[in-house]
Amino acid sequence: MARHSKIIAVINQKGGVAKTTTVQHVGYCLAAQHGKRVLLLDLDPQANLSSAFGIEPDALNRAIFDVLKGDVPLSQIIKRVSDEYVLDVAPSNIELSRAELELIQEINSTYLLRSALTSPFTDDTGADDEGPYDYIIADCGPSLGILTVNALAAADYVLVPVQPEMYSLQGLKALEQIIDRVRTRANPALSVLGWVVTMHDGRTRVHKDVVELFRKNFGPALFDSIISINTTIREAQAANKTVFQRDQSKSGAQNYAALTDELLRRIGD
Ligand SMILES: Nc1ncnc2c1ncn2[C@@H]1O[C@H](COP(=O)(O)OP(=O)(O)OP(=O)(O)O)[C@@H](O)[C@H]1O
Ligand SMILES: [Mg+2]
Repeated sequence: MARHSKIIAVINQKGGVAKTTTVQHVGYCLAAQHGKRVLLLDLDPQANLSSAFGIEPDALNRAIFDVLKGDVPLSQIIKRVSDEYVLDVAPSNIELSRAELELIQEINSTYLLRSALTSPFTDDTGADDEGPYDYIIADCGPSLGILTVNALAAADYVLVPVQPEMYSLQGLKALEQIIDRVRTRANPALSVLGWVVTMHDGRTRVHKDVVELFRKNFGPALFDSIISINTTIREAQAANKTVFQRDQSKSGAQNYAALTDELLRRIGD
């Protein structure tokens, strides 16, 4: 029997909390360091994830919007971003900003991504010889609109990066409600993989206090691994690289390696 890909949606309607950075680094780590077969889905019209892997969004003839509309199979837009390991990206571009208006009119608009993932290998790219991906990770934009709902409806797990700010808790309540609603109405199999503190500054008192507060609020759903502020991450991204490729010894690389280990443990892989 075919193995089932584990599908993870990375969401938070707040902008700039390191969703894309987390997908980029966890995806890279799973593929390059753990030998997993990984597909990353760019579900954000800003296309930051595509750019992070050196894909030029404006140069694409077809991207994930065409797949969601049902015009092309997923396999036809996938780009492999390494020769050494299986790390693929389904890129997006600005066309995807039409999703809110156009996809909502499709029949079963909540399940467009799920149906696109159901048979990604059934065309003639040859990818079916290689078998399914171990992990499919979706990077969502800063909204709780149709794209995020599609990711949640297709996912086995949801992972939420959060910045350690007091006002974050307010927005996280809205997020919990959306997750609960999707679980009840669209995808009973959805489980919360966890909340991850990102851009943590250990020297800031308030960050320590907020992590304590998060721990009380989320209990074991909060990942033990914490991602610290690390400028090498930004420098690496400016060169379309991960911090792993730039300097393994930096806290950014160590934090994301630890987060990936914890993620694998949580999934039982
Ligand atoms: N640990 C970190 N240390 C320093 N800078 C970081 C870290 N993580 C992310 N950044 C930077 O913060 C900015 C926002 O990160 P990112 O784009 O991953 O957030 P996002 O949640 O995907 O944003 P959006 O909501 O716009 O999609 C980027 O410039 C990124 O380089
Ligand atoms: Mg992003």
